Amino acid sequence: MSGRPDRTLLVTGGCGFIGGCFLRRFVPEFPHWTFVNVDKLTYAGNPRSVEPIAAAPNYRFEHVDICDDAALAGVFERHDPTAVVHFAAESHVDRSLFEPRRFVETNVVGTLNLLEQCRKRWTSQDDRVFHHVSTDEVFGSLGPQGAFHETTPYDPSSPYSASKAASDHLVRAYHRTFGLPVKLTNCSNNYGPYQFPEKLVPLMILNALEGKPLPVYGTGANVRDWLYVEDHCTAILRVLLDGRVGETYNIGGHGERTNLAVVEAICAVAAVRLGKPQAELRNLVTFVKDRPGHDLRYAINSAKITTELGWHPAESFETGLQKTVAWYADNREWVDGVRSGEYRRWLETNYAGRERP
Ligand code: NAD
Ligand code: DAU
Repeated sequence: MSGRPDRTLLVTGGCGFIGGCFLRRFVPEFPHWTFVNVDKLTYAGNPRSVEPIAAAPNYRFEHVDICDDAALAGVFERHDPTAVVHFAAESHVDRSLFEPRRFVETNVVGTLNLLEQCRKRWTSQDDRVFHHVSTDEVFGSLGPQGAFHETTPYDPSSPYSASKAASDHLVRAYHRTFGLPVKLTNCSNNYGPYQFPEKLVPLMILNALEGKPLPVYGTGANVRDWLYVEDHCTAILRVLLDGRVGETYNIGGHGERTNLAVVEAICAVAAVRLGKPQAELRNLVTFVKDRPGHDLRYAINSAKITTELGWHPAESFETGLQKTVAWYADNREWVDGVRSGEYRRWLETNYAGRERP
């Protein structure tokens, strides 16, 4: 896809954490493009996350479930997108242990529906792109050494990662079989503002600020490769504009840390913010029963996107974490909003009574 005028980007899941960041950043930056946000507004989708750009003349919102084929056809009819940037998904591993079917419906069938709309309508494929936003979890777990590269065999562990793996395969199949112009990105763990507080980083930040227990799974030795969300979005844009059709690009931050190290770093930043000794927050760490099928370690080799497209993350883990803690401390209204309703009920049903092993 070129940066020329009159592009219409259909962005699915734009009221979520990463899709919202993409829209807040690029709607003002590309005023000559039209951005159509297609979102079902599940518990994880919050219209307040796109409030800063909601009134922009080049922004539209479609309240649509990507599993609803007829509604999706209407969206394609109305907007004739030149590109799809597909973020929408059920994204939380713990939830996928309790309701795997929902993950297959949205992540697999929803992706299939989008691919079908493109296949049927994009007769001239010039300058069209289907950009599939995926995860490093499709590769399974690493041992203590090495990193995922684009050709690492798929070996997903959870219903979430299996559903994302299935969607990746479908996207590649539509390229090979039907010639659909697709691009894929597989990214490591994101953190930053507006992330739903069921995920490790925002959960720990809020609990630390509120003096609540910090529930670390197992021994806290599992390793994730942390990337600030805005860096993920700039990487997606680089691939969307200049990545090669049919190719996959891994995105990572060289931010490998054990979960315990992440929680301790959060305690350190939050303690300064609260004017309390770090040890007081560190004492809130509670080791709880491990996640079933818990992948030990993720790490990304992002040499391809770096050398081919010149992408580099702008934030270090330290600078990104400072910004993130400050955002959660300063945006309690957003937090209170997303903590209400369905989220609270789900937590009570499924996370209540998490005990020490
Ligand atoms: P999120 O859970 O914060 O947001 C998901 C969004 O999709 C929400 O706005 C939700 O309302 C919407 N949605 C869900 N089901 C839908 C449906 N059936 N129809 C239409 N909209 C629907 O997710 P996120 O963390 O922003 O992740 C976005 C994408 O990036 C996902 O595909 C995820 O697999 C991928 N990813 C996430 C991370 C991460 O660390 N969060 C890392 C790598 C890749
Ligand atoms: O790697 C990319 C993936 O990162 C994305 O594809 C997923 O959408 C995203 O949710 C994330 O998956 P994780 O399972 O790695 O993220 P989560 O924040 O749920 O957990 C991060 C690590 O922290 C993991 O090892 C489990 C652990 N954890 C998590 C929670 C919620 C805890 O120790 N305690 C907790 O309470």
